[in-house]
Amino acid sequence: MYYSKNFYQIKSNEEIFELVKGEVDEIGYYNLPLQDTSAIKEFSKNVTQKNIAIIGIGGSTLGTYAIYNFLKKAHSYDKTLHFFESTDPMDIKARIKKLELADTLFVVISKSGTTIETISVFKYFASLVKMEPSNCVIVSEDDSKLSDYARKNNLQTFDIPKNVGGRFSVFSAVGLLPLCIVGVDIDRLLGGAKMVKESFFTKKEYYEPTMQKARFMVENKNRFNINVLFSYSSSLEGLNKWYIQLWGESLGKINVNGTRQALTPIGLVGPVDQHSFLQLIAEGKRDKTVTFIKINDFEDDLTIPKGTLDGFDDLDYIDGLKFSELIESQANATIQAIKDLGDIPCDVITIDKVDEFNIAKLMYTFELLTSIVGKFVRINTYDQPGVEAGKIILKSMLKKEKQ
Ligand code: PA5
Repeated sequence: MYYSKNFYQIKSNEEIFELVKGEVDEIGYYNLPLQDTSAIKEFSKNVTQKNIAIIGIGGSTLGTYAIYNFLKKAHSYDKTLHFFESTDPMDIKARIKKLELADTLFVVISKSGTTIETISVFKYFASLVKMEPSNCVIVSEDDSKLSDYARKNNLQTFDIPKNVGGRFSVFSAVGLLPLCIVGVDIDRLLGGAKMVKESFFTKKEYYEPTMQKARFMVENKNRFNINVLFSYSSSLEGLNKWYIQLWGESLGKINVNGTRQALTPIGLVGPVDQHSFLQLIAEGKRDKTVTFIKINDFEDDLTIPKGTLDGFDDLDYIDGLKFSELIESQANATIQAIKDLGDIPCDVITIDKVDEFNIAKLMYTFELLTSIVGKFVRINTYDQPGVEAGKIILKSMLKKEKQ
Protein backbone atom coordinates (compact mmCIF):
# COMPACT_ATOMS: atom_id res chain seq x y z
CA MET A 1 0.00 0.00 0.00
CA TYR A 2 1.16 3.51 -0.75
CA TYR A 3 -0.22 6.40 1.21
CA SER A 4 0.23 10.02 0.34
CA LYS A 5 -1.64 12.89 1.89
CA ASN A 6 -2.49 16.22 0.41
CA PHE A 7 -4.26 17.77 3.35
CA TYR A 8 -2.87 19.66 6.24
CA GLN A 9 -3.94 21.11 9.55
CA ILE A 10 -4.43 24.85 9.50
CA LYS A 11 -1.98 26.32 11.98
CA SER A 12 -2.89 28.57 14.90
CA ASN A 13 -2.63 32.36 14.60
CA GLU A 14 0.29 32.29 17.01
CA GLU A 15 2.20 29.76 14.90
CA ILE A 16 1.55 31.79 11.75
CA PHE A 17 2.63 34.99 13.49
CA GLU A 18 5.91 33.33 14.46
CA LEU A 19 6.44 32.12 10.88
CA VAL A 20 5.84 35.61 9.47
CA LYS A 21 8.10 37.16 12.11
CA GLY A 22 10.73 34.60 11.22
CA GLU A 23 10.99 35.84 7.64
CA VAL A 24 11.16 39.57 8.39
CA ASP A 25 14.91 39.80 7.87
CA GLU A 26 14.96 37.41 4.91
CA ILE A 27 12.09 38.89 2.85
CA GLY A 28 13.08 42.45 2.07
CA TYR A 29 9.76 44.26 1.79
CA TYR A 30 9.00 44.12 5.50
CA ASN A 31 11.84 46.53 6.34
CA LEU A 32 11.47 48.97 3.44
CA PRO A 33 9.65 51.50 5.66
CA LEU A 34 12.91 51.91 7.63
CA GLN A 35 15.21 52.68 4.68
CA ASP A 36 17.30 55.80 4.14
CA THR A 37 15.74 57.84 1.33
CA SER A 38 18.29 60.66 1.12
CA ALA A 39 19.75 59.56 -2.26
CA ILE A 40 16.26 59.42 -3.78
CA LYS A 41 15.42 62.88 -2.48
CA GLU A 42 18.74 64.30 -3.62
CA PHE A 43 18.26 62.99 -7.16
CA SER A 44 14.61 64.08 -7.29
CA LYS A 45 15.20 67.68 -6.32
CA ASN A 46 17.49 68.14 -9.32
CA VAL A 47 15.05 66.82 -11.90
CA THR A 48 13.98 69.65 -14.18
CA GLN A 49 11.88 67.79 -16.75
CA LYS A 50 8.10 68.13 -16.64
CA ASN A 51 7.37 64.67 -18.05
CA ILE A 52 8.49 61.54 -16.25
CA ALA A 53 8.21 58.44 -18.46
CA ILE A 54 8.30 55.23 -16.46
CA ILE A 55 9.27 52.21 -18.53
CA GLY A 56 8.49 48.99 -16.71
CA ILE A 57 5.80 46.38 -16.10
CA GLY A 58 4.09 44.38 -13.35
CA GLY A 59 5.59 44.91 -9.92
CA SER A 60 7.85 47.58 -11.38
CA THR A 61 4.95 49.92 -12.17
CA LEU A 62 1.65 48.83 -10.64
CA GLY A 63 2.34 50.11 -7.12
CA THR A 64 3.53 53.48 -8.39
CA TYR A 65 0.50 53.76 -10.62
CA ALA A 66 -1.78 52.88 -7.68
CA ILE A 67 -0.35 55.62 -5.46
CA TYR A 68 -0.08 58.23 -8.21
CA ASN A 69 -3.58 57.54 -9.47
CA PHE A 70 -4.91 57.80 -5.91
CA LEU A 71 -3.19 61.08 -5.10
CA LYS A 72 -3.02 63.01 -8.35
CA LYS A 73 -6.57 64.36 -8.52
CA ALA A 74 -6.39 65.71 -4.98
CA HIS A 75 -2.92 67.28 -5.44
CA SER A 76 -1.53 69.57 -8.07
CA TYR A 77 1.82 68.16 -9.10
CA ASP A 78 3.82 70.17 -11.59
CA LYS A 79 5.28 67.08 -13.19
CA THR A 80 3.36 64.25 -14.86
CA LEU A 81 4.05 60.53 -14.69
CA HIS A 82 3.53 58.59 -17.92
CA PHE A 83 3.47 54.81 -17.79
CA PHE A 84 4.94 52.74 -20.62
CA GLU A 85 4.04 49.18 -19.67
CA SER A 86 2.77 47.62 -22.85
CA THR A 87 4.12 46.40 -26.17
CA ASP A 88 0.86 47.41 -27.86
CA PRO A 89 2.12 49.64 -30.71
CA MET A 90 -1.00 51.83 -30.70
CA ASP A 91 -0.66 52.36 -26.98
CA ILE A 92 3.03 53.26 -27.28
CA LYS A 93 2.38 55.76 -30.06
CA ALA A 94 -0.58 57.36 -28.30
CA ARG A 95 1.39 57.79 -25.09
CA ILE A 96 4.45 59.18 -26.86
CA LYS A 97 2.22 61.83 -28.46
CA LYS A 98 1.56 63.20 -24.98
CA LEU A 99 5.29 63.64 -24.29
CA GLU A 100 7.60 66.42 -25.24
CA LEU A 101 10.64 64.18 -25.61
CA ALA A 102 13.15 66.96 -24.97
CA ASP A 103 11.40 67.66 -21.65
CA THR A 104 11.17 64.05 -20.48
CA LEU A 105 13.06 62.06 -17.88
CA PHE A 106 13.10 58.32 -18.61
CA VAL A 107 12.92 56.14 -15.51
CA VAL A 108 13.59 52.56 -16.58
CA ILE A 109 12.56 50.08 -13.90
CA SER A 110 13.18 46.35 -14.03
CA LYS A 111 14.38 44.16 -11.19
CA SER A 112 15.71 41.46 -13.51
CA GLY A 113 16.81 44.01 -16.10
CA THR A 114 15.84 41.73 -18.97
CA THR A 115 12.05 41.87 -19.13
CA ILE A 116 11.12 41.86 -22.79
CA GLU A 117 8.35 44.46 -22.58
CA THR A 118 10.56 46.92 -20.71
CA ILE A 119 13.68 46.46 -22.78
CA SER A 120 11.86 46.58 -26.12
CA VAL A 121 10.14 49.86 -25.21
CA PHE A 122 13.41 51.25 -23.82
CA LYS A 123 15.17 50.28 -27.06
CA TYR A 124 12.51 52.10 -29.02
CA PHE A 125 12.86 55.27 -26.94
CA ALA A 126 16.64 55.05 -27.27
CA SER A 127 16.15 55.27 -31.05
CA LEU A 128 14.25 58.52 -30.61
CA VAL A 129 16.27 60.19 -27.87
CA LYS A 130 19.89 59.84 -26.82
CA MET A 131 19.87 58.36 -23.33
CA GLU A 132 22.15 60.42 -21.14
CA PRO A 133 22.72 61.05 -17.42
CA SER A 134 20.56 64.16 -17.74
CA ASN A 135 17.48 62.38 -19.08
CA CYS A 136 17.64 58.75 -17.98
CA VAL A 137 17.84 56.88 -14.67
CA ILE A 138 17.79 53.15 -14.03
CA VAL A 139 16.16 51.21 -11.18
CA SER A 140 17.25 47.58 -11.14
CA GLU A 141 19.19 44.89 -9.30
CA ASP A 142 22.76 45.92 -8.91
CA ASP A 143 24.17 43.10 -11.07
CA SER A 144 21.58 43.14 -13.87
CA LYS A 145 22.26 43.82 -17.56
CA LEU A 146 20.32 47.04 -17.18
CA SER A 147 22.55 48.24 -14.35
CA ASP A 148 25.61 47.26 -16.44
CA TYR A 149 24.23 49.35 -19.29
CA ALA A 150 23.71 52.25 -16.88
CA ARG A 151 27.25 52.05 -15.56
CA LYS A 152 28.70 51.94 -19.09
CA ASN A 153 26.72 55.07 -19.99
CA ASN A 154 27.26 56.91 -16.70
CA LEU A 155 23.54 56.83 -15.89
CA GLN A 156 22.55 57.00 -12.25
CA THR A 157 21.17 53.77 -10.85
CA PHE A 158 19.01 52.94 -7.88
CA ASP A 159 19.23 49.44 -6.52
CA ILE A 160 16.35 47.02 -6.00
CA PRO A 161 17.50 44.73 -3.19
CA LYS A 162 17.62 41.07 -4.23
CA ASN A 163 15.27 40.05 -1.44
CA VAL A 164 12.52 42.48 -2.44
CA GLY A 165 10.14 40.83 -4.92
CA GLY A 166 8.66 42.88 -7.77
CA ARG A 167 5.08 42.99 -6.52
CA PHE A 168 6.28 43.82 -3.00
CA SER A 169 8.62 46.58 -4.20
CA VAL A 170 6.42 49.67 -4.16
CA PHE A 171 8.14 51.08 -1.06
CA SER A 172 11.62 50.59 -2.57
CA ALA A 173 13.20 52.91 -5.16
CA VAL A 174 10.79 51.27 -7.65
CA GLY A 175 7.93 53.36 -6.32
CA LEU A 176 9.69 55.97 -4.22
CA LEU A 177 11.91 57.40 -6.95
CA PRO A 178 9.25 58.34 -9.54
CA LEU A 179 6.80 59.37 -6.84
CA CYS A 180 9.36 61.60 -5.12
CA ILE A 181 10.34 63.18 -8.44
CA VAL A 182 6.75 64.12 -9.11
CA GLY A 183 6.31 65.65 -5.65
CA VAL A 184 4.74 62.92 -3.52
CA ASP A 185 5.80 63.06 0.14
CA ILE A 186 7.68 59.76 0.40
CA ASP A 187 8.38 60.20 4.11
CA ARG A 188 4.64 60.25 4.74
CA LEU A 189 4.29 57.17 2.54
CA LEU A 190 6.92 55.27 4.47
CA GLY A 191 5.43 56.63 7.69
CA GLY A 192 2.11 54.96 6.89
CA ALA A 193 3.78 51.65 6.06
CA LYS A 194 5.94 51.84 9.19
CA MET A 195 2.97 52.51 11.39
CA VAL A 196 1.23 49.34 10.15
CA LYS A 197 4.42 47.30 10.45
CA GLU A 198 4.99 48.31 14.06
CA SER A 199 1.38 47.89 14.99
CA PHE A 200 1.21 44.40 13.50
CA PHE A 201 4.48 43.08 14.87
CA THR A 202 3.79 44.42 18.37
CA LYS A 203 0.30 42.92 18.16
CA LYS A 204 -1.50 46.23 18.43
CA GLU A 205 -4.38 47.65 16.36
CA TYR A 206 -3.45 46.04 13.01
CA TYR A 207 -2.67 42.56 14.31
CA GLU A 208 -6.06 41.12 15.09
CA PRO A 209 -8.06 42.27 12.03
CA THR A 210 -5.32 41.30 9.58
CA MET A 211 -4.74 37.90 11.13
CA GLN A 212 -8.46 37.17 11.46
CA LYS A 213 -9.14 38.17 7.89
CA ALA A 214 -6.35 35.92 6.62
CA ARG A 215 -7.66 33.04 8.74
CA PHE A 216 -11.20 33.55 7.48
CA MET A 217 -10.02 33.57 3.86
CA VAL A 218 -8.08 30.37 4.36
CA GLU A 219 -10.65 28.46 6.39
CA ASN A 220 -13.31 29.30 3.81
CA LYS A 221 -11.17 29.20 0.68
CA ASN A 222 -12.93 26.25 -0.90
CA ARG A 223 -16.33 27.85 -0.63
CA PHE A 224 -15.38 31.52 -1.09
CA ASN A 225 -12.43 31.31 -3.41
CA ILE A 226 -12.99 34.68 -5.09
CA ASN A 227 -12.11 37.95 -3.35
CA VAL A 228 -13.74 41.04 -4.76
CA LEU A 229 -12.21 44.41 -3.96
CA PHE A 230 -15.02 46.92 -4.47
CA SER A 231 -13.41 50.38 -4.32
CA TYR A 232 -15.65 53.41 -4.15
CA SER A 233 -13.50 55.96 -5.98
CA SER A 234 -12.12 56.06 -9.52
CA SER A 235 -8.84 57.07 -7.90
CA LEU A 236 -8.58 53.54 -6.49
CA GLU A 237 -8.68 51.82 -9.88
CA GLY A 238 -4.87 51.58 -9.76
CA LEU A 239 -4.97 50.12 -6.28
CA ASN A 240 -7.33 47.42 -7.56
CA LYS A 241 -4.87 46.50 -10.33
CA TRP A 242 -1.97 46.41 -7.88
CA TYR A 243 -3.98 44.25 -5.47
CA ILE A 244 -4.94 41.84 -8.26
CA GLN A 245 -1.27 41.31 -9.10
CA LEU A 246 -0.20 41.05 -5.46
CA TRP A 247 -2.91 38.58 -4.54
CA GLY A 248 -2.98 36.59 -7.78
CA GLU A 249 0.73 36.21 -8.47
CA SER A 250 1.53 35.56 -4.81
CA LEU A 251 -1.22 33.13 -3.86
CA GLY A 252 -2.02 31.18 -7.03
CA LYS A 253 0.43 28.39 -6.28
CA ILE A 254 0.99 24.71 -5.66
CA ASN A 255 1.67 24.23 -1.95
CA VAL A 256 4.10 21.97 -0.05
CA ASN A 257 1.65 19.07 -0.31
CA GLY A 258 1.21 19.47 -4.05
CA THR A 259 -2.28 20.97 -3.64
CA ARG A 260 -3.34 23.83 -5.89
CA GLN A 261 -4.12 27.02 -3.99
CA ALA A 262 -6.00 29.94 -5.46
CA LEU A 263 -7.88 32.87 -4.07
CA THR A 264 -8.98 34.68 -7.19
CA PRO A 265 -8.85 38.49 -6.95
CA ILE A 266 -11.32 40.74 -8.73
CA GLY A 267 -11.23 44.54 -8.69
CA LEU A 268 -14.39 46.64 -9.07
CA VAL A 269 -14.88 50.38 -8.97
CA GLY A 270 -18.01 51.89 -7.49
CA PRO A 271 -20.47 53.20 -8.37
CA VAL A 272 -19.72 52.23 -12.01
CA ASP A 273 -19.63 48.48 -11.37
CA GLN A 274 -22.92 48.62 -9.48
CA HIS A 275 -24.33 48.69 -13.00
CA SER A 276 -22.38 45.63 -14.03
CA PHE A 277 -20.81 43.02 -11.74
CA LEU A 278 -22.98 43.70 -8.67
CA GLN A 279 -25.80 41.57 -10.08
CA LEU A 280 -23.42 38.61 -10.20
CA ILE A 281 -22.41 39.14 -6.59
CA ALA A 282 -26.00 39.54 -5.39
CA GLU A 283 -27.66 36.66 -7.19
CA GLY A 284 -24.82 34.56 -8.51
CA LYS A 285 -22.99 31.68 -6.90
CA ARG A 286 -21.95 32.13 -3.30
CA ASP A 287 -18.24 31.84 -4.01
CA LYS A 288 -17.14 35.41 -3.26
CA THR A 289 -16.05 37.53 -0.34
CA VAL A 290 -16.33 41.26 -0.87
CA THR A 291 -14.04 43.94 0.54
CA PHE A 292 -15.46 47.44 0.18
CA ILE A 293 -13.09 50.39 0.24
CA LYS A 294 -14.51 53.82 0.98
CA ILE A 295 -12.94 57.24 1.31
CA ASN A 296 -14.16 59.09 4.39
CA ASP A 297 -13.22 62.59 3.33
CA PHE A 298 -12.87 63.48 -0.36
CA GLU A 299 -12.20 67.10 0.64
CA ASP A 300 -14.31 68.13 -2.33
CA ASP A 301 -17.50 70.19 -2.31
CA LEU A 302 -18.71 69.55 -5.86
CA THR A 303 -22.48 69.64 -5.54
CA ILE A 304 -25.50 68.56 -7.58
CA PRO A 305 -27.20 71.88 -8.34
CA LYS A 306 -30.86 72.60 -7.73
CA GLY A 307 -33.36 73.24 -10.49
CA THR A 308 -31.19 72.98 -13.59
CA LEU A 309 -33.36 70.38 -15.35
CA ASP A 310 -37.12 70.42 -15.73
CA GLY A 311 -39.19 67.30 -15.31
CA PHE A 312 -37.15 65.45 -12.69
CA ASP A 313 -39.26 66.34 -9.64
CA ASP A 314 -39.24 62.76 -8.43
CA LEU A 315 -35.41 62.98 -8.22
CA ASP A 316 -35.31 66.29 -6.36
CA TYR A 317 -33.97 64.53 -3.24
CA ILE A 318 -30.52 64.67 -4.85
CA ASP A 319 -30.64 68.45 -5.34
CA GLY A 320 -28.01 70.23 -3.28
CA LEU A 321 -26.26 66.97 -2.39
CA LYS A 322 -22.48 66.89 -2.59
CA PHE A 323 -21.12 64.25 -4.96
CA SER A 324 -18.92 63.01 -2.08
CA GLU A 325 -22.09 62.45 -0.03
CA LEU A 326 -23.77 60.72 -2.96
CA ILE A 327 -20.92 58.25 -3.54
CA GLU A 328 -20.70 57.59 0.22
CA SER A 329 -24.42 56.80 0.31
CA GLN A 330 -24.12 54.63 -2.76
CA ALA A 331 -21.35 52.63 -1.09
CA ASN A 332 -23.34 52.34 2.14
CA ALA A 333 -26.47 51.25 0.29
CA THR A 334 -24.59 48.57 -1.61
CA ILE A 335 -22.88 47.37 1.57
CA GLN A 336 -26.24 47.21 3.33
CA ALA A 337 -27.80 45.31 0.43
CA ILE A 338 -24.98 42.74 0.51
CA LYS A 339 -25.16 42.41 4.30
CA ASP A 340 -28.93 41.91 4.12
CA LEU A 341 -28.43 38.92 1.87
CA GLY A 342 -26.81 37.28 4.87
CA ASP A 343 -24.60 34.78 3.06
CA ILE A 344 -21.90 36.89 1.41
CA PRO A 345 -18.93 37.59 3.70
CA CYS A 346 -17.94 41.22 3.43
CA ASP A 347 -15.72 43.71 5.16
CA VAL A 348 -15.38 47.47 4.81
CA ILE A 349 -12.13 49.45 4.83
CA THR A 350 -12.51 53.21 5.23
CA ILE A 351 -9.61 55.40 4.18
CA ASP A 352 -9.61 58.62 6.21
CA LYS A 353 -8.51 60.91 3.41
CA VAL A 354 -6.65 61.09 0.11
CA ASP A 355 -3.06 61.34 1.29
CA GLU A 356 0.24 59.46 1.30
CA PHE A 357 -0.06 58.15 4.84
CA ASN A 358 -3.41 56.52 4.29
CA ILE A 359 -2.72 54.83 0.95
CA ALA A 360 0.55 53.43 2.32
CA LYS A 361 -1.20 52.03 5.39
CA LEU A 362 -3.66 50.25 3.15
CA MET A 363 -1.03 48.87 0.77
CA TYR A 364 1.29 47.65 3.51
CA THR A 365 -1.68 45.97 5.22
CA PHE A 366 -2.49 44.14 1.96
CA GLU A 367 1.14 43.05 1.66
CA LEU A 368 1.05 41.67 5.21
CA LEU A 369 -2.27 39.98 4.56
CA THR A 370 -0.81 38.29 1.47
CA SER A 371 2.21 37.05 3.41
CA ILE A 372 0.02 35.70 6.21
CA VAL A 373 -2.34 33.89 3.83
CA GLY A 374 0.73 32.44 2.08
CA LYS A 375 1.95 31.02 5.40
CA PHE A 376 -1.47 29.55 6.21
CA VAL A 377 -1.74 27.74 2.86
CA ARG A 378 1.93 26.73 2.87
CA ILE A 379 3.13 28.14 -0.39
CA ASN A 380 6.07 30.23 -1.51
CA THR A 381 4.35 33.63 -1.67
CA TYR A 382 7.29 35.36 -3.27
CA ASP A 383 8.04 33.40 -6.44
CA GLN A 384 6.10 33.10 -9.70
CA PRO A 385 7.14 29.87 -11.48
CA GLY A 386 3.88 29.76 -13.44
CA VAL A 387 4.83 32.68 -15.67
CA GLU A 388 8.20 31.29 -16.74
CA ALA A 389 7.00 28.76 -19.34
CA GLY A 390 5.43 31.42 -21.56
CA LYS A 391 8.58 33.51 -21.42
CA ILE A 392 10.73 30.58 -22.56
CA ILE A 393 8.35 29.77 -25.44
CA LEU A 394 8.28 33.42 -26.51
CA LYS A 395 12.05 33.61 -26.53
CA SER A 396 12.43 30.52 -28.68
CA MET A 397 9.63 31.67 -31.02
CA LEU A 398 11.27 35.05 -31.54
CA LYS A 399 14.72 33.52 -31.98
CA LYS A 400 13.37 31.07 -34.60
CA GLU A 401 11.65 33.88 -36.47
CA LYS A 402 14.96 35.75 -36.56
CA GLN A 403 16.83 32.81 -38.18
O1 PA5 B 1 6.10 40.53 -9.09
C1 PA5 B 1 6.91 40.21 -9.92
O2 PA5 B 1 8.01 39.71 -9.62
C2 PA5 B 1 6.64 40.44 -11.40
O3 PA5 B 1 5.35 40.86 -11.64
C3 PA5 B 1 7.61 41.46 -11.95
O4 PA5 B 1 7.47 42.66 -11.26
C4 PA5 B 1 7.43 41.70 -13.44
O5 PA5 B 1 7.51 40.50 -14.14
C5 PA5 B 1 8.48 42.67 -13.98
O6 PA5 B 1 9.75 42.15 -13.73
P1 PA5 B 1 11.04 43.05 -13.77
O7 PA5 B 1 10.94 44.06 -12.69
O8 PA5 B 1 12.18 42.10 -13.54
O9 PA5 B 1 11.11 43.70 -15.11
